[in-house]
Amino acid sequence: MSDADALNRRLVDELTAAGTLPDQWRTAFLAMARHRFVPSIIWVDADEGGFVPQCRDDDPLVWLETVYSDKPIVTQVDDGAAPDTGPGRLATSSISKPSIVAAMLDYLQVEAETRVLEIGRGTGWNAALLSARLGERNITTIEVDAVIAERARKALAGAGVSPTVVTGDGADGHPSGGPYDRIIATASVQDMPRSWVAQTRPGGFILALWGTAFDDGALVRLTVDEHGTACGPFVDNTVAFMWLRAQRAPRPVPPVEPTGVAESTTTLHPDVVTWDDLNASFAVGVRLPNVSKRFVDADDGTDDFTFWAFADTSWARVDVTEGASTHRVRQHGPRALWSEIEACYQWWEEIGRPVTGRFGLAVLPHRQYVYLDSPDNPV
Ligand SMILES: C[S@@+](CC[C@H](N)C(=O)[O-])C[C@H]1O[C@@H](n2cnc3c(N)ncnc32)[C@H](O)[C@@H]1O
Repeated sequence: MSDADALNRRLVDELTAAGTLPDQWRTAFLAMARHRFVPSIIWVDADEGGFVPQCRDDDPLVWLETVYSDKPIVTQVDDGAAPDTGPGRLATSSISKPSIVAAMLDYLQVEAETRVLEIGRGTGWNAALLSARLGERNITTIEVDAVIAERARKALAGAGVSPTVVTGDGADGHPSGGPYDRIIATASVQDMPRSWVAQTRPGGFILALWGTAFDDGALVRLTVDEHGTACGPFVDNTVAFMWLRAQRAPRPVPPVEPTGVAESTTTLHPDVVTWDDLNASFAVGVRLPNVSKRFVDADDGTDDFTFWAFADTSWARVDVTEGASTHRVRQHGPRALWSEIEACYQWWEEIGRPVTGRFGLAVLPHRQYVYLDSPDNPV
């Protein structure tokens, strides 16, 4: 057994022992070893932020150990524009974390001959796993980036499977191959494409990560009905993907401070509405879908930081001094964004701090909305 095969078996055994890899998927994971799909140059976090390349040829064992860890691996940065020597700023393609891949395949609830459309082929690993379990004739996979699409096609062929591979915008789906029993998206959306609903047979599922500019969002499983609408619960808020290319969240630059700024203070620490409780962050994002956020660390070696919120011409900043109980707030523009965030957090607390799993998404022909507990109760 080669080093790679031994490491693959170790990973599969670890996922099985942790209860994340259902037995029905074990054979596919053993057959479609992850290293076959990972390019020789991968991108790892740089100390100063961003990404630097790690090459297989520099140290094949280190590269293999990285490939066989339960971690996502960035396989493209800056849409391929960064030089191979780096650095790169934005992760634009990756091979997903094995335990997340296994969990998503489990959420998909497939059986023999289930027909699946995958959006976001990336390296092709997920399409290979689906092909191994369901047969390549039942799998169609779309990738928007031509270079990545071609690399994945070759990796799939090298692994001995040939699902239908399409290069194009996954937001359009692939109508000529439909209707599908399942659509699985491994890139996130803020606006669920109606084409996915139209191309899923009644009773079929769409599994996708739905989020907002404020929050990475959560995995939602929508069941499509015979009237062309889709509805279903959020099932997992621990997953994060890159956005569908046309739906990337904006990344505004903090403004040079103008005059006319409203000053106040807050006792709400920005972490409380963001990282500390993903349920809170999700709910605030649902109520404030067009508000984006950013954290900027102080450059004085302390843990102090500034939290920024942006929406159109409005912005707010909260300067946090670690250990302090009150923080300085400055807001500018027609909207008082920090006050809105505080009000949304208070709303979430007042309705009993619901977990993300109590929310669901309804996608109708002309609108889509998040609900709490029942589609009759839009948020
Ligand atoms: C997290 S990666 C996918 C991981 C992949 N399923 C795998 O097994 O390696 C997300 C992929 O979605 C692709 N993507 C982004 N926008 C897309 C779009 N509009 N249509 C199709 N693919 C898209 C990205 O280029 C990227 O390769």
